[in-house]
Amino acid sequence: MDAPLTCATCHNGVTTSYATAPMRHAMEAQGANPTLNAHPDLSVQMGGYTYRIQTKDGQSTYTVSDGSDTLSLPIHWTFGQHAQTWVLEKDGHFYESLVSYFPAAQGLALTPGDQKITPHNVTEAMGRQLPIWETRTCFNCHGSGVIAGEKLKPAKVTPGLDCERCHAGAQQHMADAAQNNFKTLPKSLNRLDSEQISDFCGQCHRTWDTVMHNKWRGPAFVRFQPYRLENSKCFIGNDPRISCLACHNPHQPVNHNVAYYDAKCLACHAETKTASSHPAAKTCSVAKSNCTSCHMPKVELPSGHAQFTDHDIRVVRAGEPYPE
Ligand code: HEC
Ligand code: HEC
Ligand code: HEC
Ligand code: HEC
Ligand code: HEC
Ligand code: HEC
Ligand code: HEC
Repeated sequence: MDAPLTCATCHNGVTTSYATAPMRHAMEAQGANPTLNAHPDLSVQMGGYTYRIQTKDGQSTYTVSDGSDTLSLPIHWTFGQHAQTWVLEKDGHFYESLVSYFPAAQGLALTPGDQKITPHNVTEAMGRQLPIWETRTCFNCHGSGVIAGEKLKPAKVTPGLDCERCHAGAQQHMADAAQNNFKTLPKSLNRLDSEQISDFCGQCHRTWDTVMHNKWRGPAFVRFQPYRLENSKCFIGNDPRISCLACHNPHQPVNHNVAYYDAKCLACHAETKTASSHPAAKTCSVAKSNCTSCHMPKVELPSGHAQFTDHDIRVVRAGEPYPE
């Protein structure tokens, strides 16, 4: 009996590690929400409205009430593996939930970006109505199988990023590989230079161009790593030592061990000359390890509850404003 062919048949290591990576779980369908299962009754009071998220047998319900009116909707789509926001559907329209779950607080709070919204009724308090184009982009960055030029069918979207989402042509490659044909390998991503990788990851993590074009300024946009990294003096577009892939394996969760990154910095900032054709960068007069703890500070979003790592690598001086 032959087992059905999957990527794991030939790429077991990558497939196993990716199964638990956050990008695989960037979106979940109903029933697959360990966070809500572990917190089956969440509530918060905000601006005269009470929000409650109750979970039973894998089904979650989002309820908002102003004391007299109450609106309850089933949660079909969860966005985010750590922090969570829900995309809700009412009368054929889509809404981004006005409250989200934050792991730091282990509870509910206002969704980032919604600070300016003052709801006038339970529907407005439930969520921000998403235009059709925006609903589409949510599902396309957090899910797989959104087809360009076709009407979005949320029920048909595969939650999370599948292999094909980054490795276009992988299905064809698998079918061909089974016949011992290796002429249709997916395009090799590790041959892209650091600027091209920034732009590739920036399709979703947002590119420098996207941020400039939209005039997005201030700490709310610290979460857009390609733009922050390219602002740093360390960024050299054709030097693989500063590519996203030098520090991150996209098939794995981010490494939270500060010491892990030292070798990445020292690949350029070493005392001794490196093998690279680029001139060696300066060395630090302050410390020899834990580089990122001082030079890549954590920045809190203006809405609170979530921190991001500033990829604008630099000397941080006390009292200096956040650099644009
Ligand atoms: C029958 C075996 C087989 C199956 C099944 C298979 N691959 Fe491959 N794949 C290979 C071989 C052989 C190579 C070339 C050697 C290598 O890079 O490991 C390869 C290479 C690749 C590469 C690297 C391209 C490069 O040069 O960097 C990617 C990406 C890839 N496969 C993705 C997938 C994905 C995604 C699936 C599932 C949809 C899949 N493969 C299924 C055998 C297979
Ligand atoms: C199709 C959209 C998409 C692309 C392309 C993409 N990402 Fe992501 N990435 C996401 C989303 C969405 C999340 C948030 C996942 C979550 O936590 O729910 C994420 C999360 C991450 C994380 C955080 C993981 C953690 O442990 O919290 C890292 C690191 C990351 N991506 C790196 C990359 C790199 C490097 C690339 C390019 C090789 C890339 N991403 C390309 C959408 C994308
Ligand atoms: C252009 C691509 C893109 C679009 C559009 C997008 N996201 Fe994301 N989203 C990301 C990436 C990349 C991350 C991971 C880095 C970050 O948190 O900024 C992320 C992170 C998140 C997180 C936090 C995940 C965590 O684990 O902490 C939530 C929640 C989220 N997105 C919800 C949404 C919702 C809801 C929409 C639609 C209204 C949406 N996103 C639209 C790319 C996108
Ligand atoms: C977020 C984008 C992303 C997703 C999703 C993704 N990959 Fe990759 N993959 C990459 C990048 C970028 C590289 C090049 C990384 C490198 O070589 O350092 C890569 C390299 C590879 C390689 C060749 C190098 C190696 O490590 O063996 C294989 C094989 C591969 N991926 C298979 C898969 C399979 C199978 C899946 C799904 C289970 C998958 N990838 C999902 C981005 C992704
Ligand atoms: C020189 C090393 C380095 C490079 C290059 C780098 N990162 Fe990071 N990245 C880090 C560090 C350090 C963290 C924080 C790890 C932790 O949680 O302690 C991080 C965290 C992240 C996270 C998690 C959310 C956050 O902000 O804390 C995402 C997503 C991410 N990086 C994406 C990217 C992308 C996309 C690129 C390429 C544009 C990139 N990174 C390039 C070092 C790097
Ligand atoms: C691709 C090589 C490269 C990598 C990798 C790299 N840098 Fe740099 N970095 C440079 C260059 C080039 C400069 C500018 C000239 C100089 O300082 O020699 C620079 C400048 C700096 C500066 C001074 C910035 C300023 O605003 O004056 C600091 C601090 C720094 N790097 C820290 C780091 C840390 C910490 C890491 C790892 C997270 C890192 N670098 C990774 C090449 C790199
Ligand atoms: C305890 C915090 C701290 C740690 C850890 C740290 N640095 Fe620094 N670094 C600083 C400060 C502060 C300065 C500015 C010194 C000055 O201007 O007198 C600096 C300066 C630098 C510069 C600019 C040097 C110049 O002459 O312009 C580079 C490059 C640098 N650090 C790289 C690194 C690297 C690489 C590591 C890890 C091996 C590291 N730093 C670890 C705090 C730190």
